[in-house]
Amino acid sequence: MFSEKIQIGLKKQLNRELESSQLYLSMASWVECKHESLEGISNFLYDHSDEERKHMLKLIRYINKRGGYADAFMEKTIIENVSYNSLKELFQKLFEHEKIISEEINSLVELSLQERDYFTYNFLQWYVEEQIEEEALTKMILSKIKLVEKDKAGLYLFDRDIKNFHLNRE
Ligand code: FEO
Repeated sequence: MFSEKIQIGLKKQLNRELESSQLYLSMASWVECKHESLEGISNFLYDHSDEERKHMLKLIRYINKRGGYADAFMEKTIIENVSYNSLKELFQKLFEHEKIISEEINSLVELSLQERDYFTYNFLQWYVEEQIEEEALTKMILSKIKLVEKDKAGLYLFDRDIKNFHLNRE
């Protein structure tokens, strides 16, 4: 059964994915503006913003397919005053953000079990896998940034290589 509780939880999550997309977008724009030579990093962030939008769409379509109606879009979609002291700070924030998203997915999985909604439980396994990979990816990028941030040659190579960093499940 597709309960009201589940529907509310999934709608909340689709808004979190939209917010993630906006966050990656704002970060991409900041890097493009403040570090214009680092187009590998800004492209990575722009691409990932698109990925997050796909995560949102997947939720919308699932809710509608189950007989619900994905009508609740964000109260607040605008991310303003984006500024970071460093690339390390930016990627640290991203890593923390992904960890929060993982906790929210875990709570939804728990809710699906409480509500005995095994269709939703099964649907959410895609997001569980995704979050394992996203956390690992952002953690790896953060550790590399910490290594090279003060080293111009290292940063140049990092910017060149980041286009090859993918989620393992893609
Ligand atoms: Fe769709 Fe990065 O969580």
